[in-house]
Amino acid sequence: MPCRYLLLFSALLEISSAGLIPDTSLKYVKHTETNYVPIIGIMSQESPDELKKYGPTYIPASYVGYLEQAGARVAPVKVNQTDDYYISLFKSLNGVLFPGGEVSILDSGYAKAGQIFFKLAIEAYDRGDYFPLWGTCLGFELLTALATGKNVLKDCSDMDISIPLHFEQDFRKGRLYREIPESLVQILATENVTANFHFSCLDPETYENTPELKKFYRVLSKNNDKKGSPFVSSMEAYRYPFYGTQFHPEKNNFIWDPSYKLEHTMHSALVSQYFANFFVDECRKSKHRFPSPELEAKVMIDNYKPVFMGSPTFLEYYMFDV
Ligand SMILES: *[C@@H]1O[C@H](CO)[C@@H](O)[C@H](O)[C@H]1NC(C)=O
Ligand SMILES: *[C@@H]1O[C@H](CO)[C@@H](O)[C@H](O)[C@H]1NC(C)=O
Repeated sequence: MPCRYLLLFSALLEISSAGLIPDTSLKYVKHTETNYVPIIGIMSQESPDELKKYGPTYIPASYVGYLEQAGARVAPVKVNQTDDYYISLFKSLNGVLFPGGEVSILDSGYAKAGQIFFKLAIEAYDRGDYFPLWGTCLGFELLTALATGKNVLKDCSDMDISIPLHFEQDFRKGRLYREIPESLVQILATENVTANFHFSCLDPETYENTPELKKFYRVLSKNNDKKGSPFVSSMEAYRYPFYGTQFHPEKNNFIWDPSYKLEHTMHSALVSQYFANFFVDECRKSKHRFPSPELEAKVMIDNYKPVFMGSPTFLEYYMFDV
């Protein structure tokens, strides 16, 4: 093991002959330095029927490009693995992104792994460690289930529509938009730059009437679906570095299916980059490291080759054998 790993991170990681084990006896060092080599996990999920012939689980390549555009590297997180697998990854990664998709937010492999990371990230923060989580679309919905233990969503329909954001009055009180340039607020508030592809959503009224949600998350923006029904479009946890958007900031820059009504303007590109930059910079506050460069190399997304769907969708998916 090279010394730079030992010197900087021996206080954070305990390496034993049995592998990487959690050590709660160690006092975590204060995170005053920035981690300029963040590695972010992206949660995989069970394949829908049309992808099953390529593999049982997948990650859309758009999320990989999305995080890479902001200076992070990516490692896939697999479903239905042992607790040890998730604990090892937790101690090695600098954050996890839960992508959009179609699986259950209560009992899929995606949801079960989400429960583990949510618990570990909370415990870590409470002892002075930092592990950010991000949920996009289904991932946003998962964040609501993780805080309440149930499905609190209502049906709503916003398939393939790009809309402006309706910010809450005090949206700058949270962290997600605290330092957003005024020019970008103007773009977000007036242009069709947030891509929505969802059948479920969080009703602001449910939020108000569900103490577990209201205590845990701050609502930052709300929108109305095609039928005029309101939904929460972005939120963050008050205490923890957890963020969620019902819309898809990655699609503006990384999805080229011509059947979708996505904006590909410079302004929509800036919006995509803003959210990626924000989350990746949160992950730079995490000092977790892989115990060795060899282990790090083994789990990176670079070990996999995405499947290109070609014409007419131009979509790309990373496929996994579990
Ligand atoms: C993971 O486990 C869940 C049940 O807990 C099951 O529904 C799902 O199909 C499993 N996924 C894979 C890829 O085996
Ligand atoms: C946004 O899209 C709607 C239709 O969905 C359209 O009426 C409106 O003019 C668009 N706004 C901008 C600024 O392009």
